[in-house]
Order: sequence, then structure tokens, then C-alpha cells
Amino acid sequence: MISPRSFELYKQKGQKISMVTCYDYSTSRILAKSDVDILLVGDSLGMVIYGYSSTLQVSIEQMVYHTEAVARGLNGSKFLVSDMPFLSYQTSERDAVLNAGLLIKAGANAVKVEGGKRVIEKIRAIISADIPVMGHLGLTPQSINVTGGFKLQATSEKDVEKIFEDSLLLEREGCFAIVLELVPEEVAKVISENLKIPTIGIGAGRFCDGQVLVINDMLGYFPDFQPKHVKRYVNLSDQILNSVNNFANDVKNGVFPGKENVFNLQEGINLESILKKFVNRNF
Ligand code: KIV
Repeated sequence: MISPRSFELYKQKGQKISMVTCYDYSTSRILAKSDVDILLVGDSLGMVIYGYSSTLQVSIEQMVYHTEAVARGLNGSKFLVSDMPFLSYQTSERDAVLNAGLLIKAGANAVKVEGGKRVIEKIRAIISADIPVMGHLGLTPQSINVTGGFKLQATSEKDVEKIFEDSLLLEREGCFAIVLELVPEEVAKVISENLKIPTIGIGAGRFCDGQVLVINDMLGYFPDFQPKHVKRYVNLSDQILNSVNNFANDVKNGVFPGKENVFNLQEGINLESILKKFVNRNF
């Protein structure tokens, strides 16, 4: 079994960590065979799976369903982190522990929590219950109503100081890694160089100890928009559209199904006599 602390060893050895999001069984079966180190059932599923305008609508029940599906596909082959959704931990330490526990029971190895100082008691409580926590600083999408949208964070001196302080606090409290989202490369570099635990960047430049991408973005499977920080490795939207159009045309032109796709009756069944009854409506 992979332990969360093993990612600190990756950092010591200068071995970069890769993480992608995953939300369903079929994708997790594929990713179980991949070289990626960590899978994240991100609350980004609210946007890419459910079509919500933000992650705020995602419930703990949705996170549990998707964590169960992904965990079934992985069967223990990868380290699985699951996001604590909006209002599953902010309300009390008790809520935080119980909801983190639901994700662990669903098959996650760790949970990810957004925020630093303002949620530190909740993070401490989760860690005290022996549930590993991955921190998340910079753009924390559950706070968009305060931060004013999906935009670059830690751009003022005050905010840079705050993120440095928060990252040290998360390390001190026992988080095993920290996601840094949408922060200037220089800021992420200083944090990465000054922490023992690994940083995993998304839109945080080249010097983090690892990188994470939303799988739908990197596979071109989310047609609504393409953020600047994403590298698109394939354009699945085009491939899906072409394939489905080919199918529709094959059906229209009688090309599908072909002989290889059909099932035939066993030899010895007398279809003729049944057919007569059928034609004469004699059943
Ligand atoms: O929900 C998510 O997919 C995330 C990643 C962007 C890190 O939190």
C-alpha cells in the first residue's frame, strides 16, 4: 500500500509527482495501468460532469458516489485522494471528521481540503482522526464569492505573505502535500523550496514538486473553455463528434450493424413453422 509520506521521499529524490482527476469507473480502470502517481476525485466534477457553474453546488453524497466508482476501478493500485466539498468541513470539526470519514469509507486514501489558517482547526481534527490531508492554497474555487472568480492569486505583497504563512502552517499541522492553484511561478517556487512536503501545482509554474490537471481539460473532453495553464494532449471532443457522426451515417446508410455484429439462431430451430403461425396471427 502506498503511504502518503512516500511522496515526501519523491521530493527528496527530486522525483516529480503527477496527479490527474478521475470521476468514474471506466476511466479509473484505464488510469490504474498508467504511470500517474495520484488520482484525485476533484470537486471539479461539479463543472465537468454535472455542468454546474462552480464547485459550490457539489455535495458530499456526490463525492462519495464518484469516490466509490473510482476506487472500484483502481482496486488499490493508485493513491486516491478525494475532495472535501463546500460546507462538508467549514461548519465544524465534527462535520469535517465525519465527512472525511465518509470519503475514506468510500475508498479514498486521503482527502483534500481548501484553505489555510481559516480552516486549520478542521484540518487538525481530520488529521487527528488518522485521515491524511492534502492542502490546497492559491485559487480555492470554493471561495470564489470572496476572491472574485477564477483568477490568479497571490499577486499583492500582502497575499504573497499570506500564502507563505498558510503553506508553513499546513506543513506544521501535518498535511502530506499541498496543491498550489493559479499562483505566479515565482511564488510557487519559493514555497516549494522552503517546504519538506511536496507542492503539486496547477497553473503554478514549472518549479512545483508535482503537477495536477483536470483530466477532461488535458484530454480535450470539456468543450466549454480551455484555461491557459492546461496542456491538451488529445482532442477527444473532436474524436467523439466524428465517431458519433460516423455511427449516425452508418445507421442511415445501413452499414451498421455488419455481419460481425449480429447474433444468429442455433441450427435445428424450425423458424418456418413458427413463421407461419406468426404470419397467420395464430398464436
Ligand atoms: O477539483 C479539482 O479538480 C481540483 C484540482 C484542480 C486540483 O481541486
